[in-house]
Amino acid sequence: MYNFTFHVPTTIHFGKGQISHLTELADYGSRALLCYGGGSIKRNGIYDQALSILKDAGVQVFELSGVEPNPRIQTVRRGVELCHQNDIQMVLAIGGGSTIDCAKVVAAGAKYDGDAWDLVIKPELIKDALPIFSVLTLSATGSEMDAFAVISDMTKNEKWGTAGECLKPTMSVLDPTYTFSVPARQTAAGTADMMSHTFENYFSMDDGAYVQKRMAEALLKTMIHYGPIALAHPDDYDARANLMWAASHAINGMVGDGCSPAWCVHPMEHELSAFYDITHGEGLAILTPAWMEHVLSADTVALFAAYGRNVWGLTGTEDEAVAREAIVRTREFFTQTMHMPATLREVGITDEKNFEVMAKKAADGCKGSFVPLSKDDIVEIYRAAL
Ligand code: NZQ
Ligand code: ZN
Repeated sequence: MYNFTFHVPTTIHFGKGQISHLTELADYGSRALLCYGGGSIKRNGIYDQALSILKDAGVQVFELSGVEPNPRIQTVRRGVELCHQNDIQMVLAIGGGSTIDCAKVVAAGAKYDGDAWDLVIKPELIKDALPIFSVLTLSATGSEMDAFAVISDMTKNEKWGTAGECLKPTMSVLDPTYTFSVPARQTAAGTADMMSHTFENYFSMDDGAYVQKRMAEALLKTMIHYGPIALAHPDDYDARANLMWAASHAINGMVGDGCSPAWCVHPMEHELSAFYDITHGEGLAILTPAWMEHVLSADTVALFAAYGRNVWGLTGTEDEAVAREAIVRTREFFTQTMHMPATLREVGITDEKNFEVMAKKAADGCKGSFVPLSKDDIVEIYRAAL
């Protein structure tokens, strides 16, 4: 196990009614920028609830609405502008990963002299940010408890992840009842996303990180158990609660620190979203089984077999057969159990014309991964997923 520093400064208030903790924002000032998406928080009542709590706490609210899924740099710039115009002291995101990510870069942009896009492509420029708060409404990205933010510039077909210690939220409210209204398609995509985060950490070559691997398996089992229950029964509290907490831990360092994970399915998926604006979790569900098949070899078979036995309960004694069956189970879970698209065609990517350029852009991020991938490997994976 490698040396690491595990530091999560985010206070989590988990459970029903925990939104009352928004009163604590008053400790950070009296002017907040509220970021939210296309209106789901108005339909499910969270907006009214939050506004009333903040009003009682004496916090004046300014609004950045209309944050897109796959949030755009143009929206971030609008948020930074609002911060400057209104002397904003803190940023509150209410929504899914897109809204929280947008809020994070707005918070950093407000403390930066240049254009916010600099902070997306050069994370080392992120030195400071306004305090960031979130009320999570969709279990998926883990943005509520991590240092990352992913922002797109669709005019250039670019989507990049950035990161900074100061992007970790100060406080996040995780009320599983707020995810009851998440539509089936987003519930499935969110489950695929949190599973992918766990895979990206799990599939690394470090034998010494035993405890991280076993915790990752527990997270995967939880997601595989509760994902279908949340689909069938959207207001099943335990299903929503377990998915919510599992998603946060998949990416907050608990299962990745001490290993040497270098994510590679995510860089490949970010290119799909950058060129075709597809839903992140759907892209991951399509690419993951194709990637697993591509990297299965004599060097990796033992880990895939462990995945099959410990996560899927497979009992075979022959590693390769167990590994192959585990990949079949993974694909079936996404497509048959969670009713997700199986191919790129199903999400509207019908030809190979951008594969070379997307693979070239993704390749840098895939060099040091579990199995290093070249541009040609990535093109092959895209083709297999087509
Ligand atoms: O915009 P609204 O109206 O709120 O609707 C959203 C949106 O249409 C809706 N939704 C959210 N909560 C809801 C709800 N609808 C009904 N009821 C609720 N309670 O769901 C749609 C998708 O929301 P979005 O925030 O885009 O989804 P998600 O949380 O999956 O975030 C995806 C973004 O996060 C990035 C992805 O690349 C993508 O841009 N990621 C961020 C990461 C991070 N910060 O650590 C890591 C991830 O790997 C990922 O890359
Ligand atoms: Zn993801």
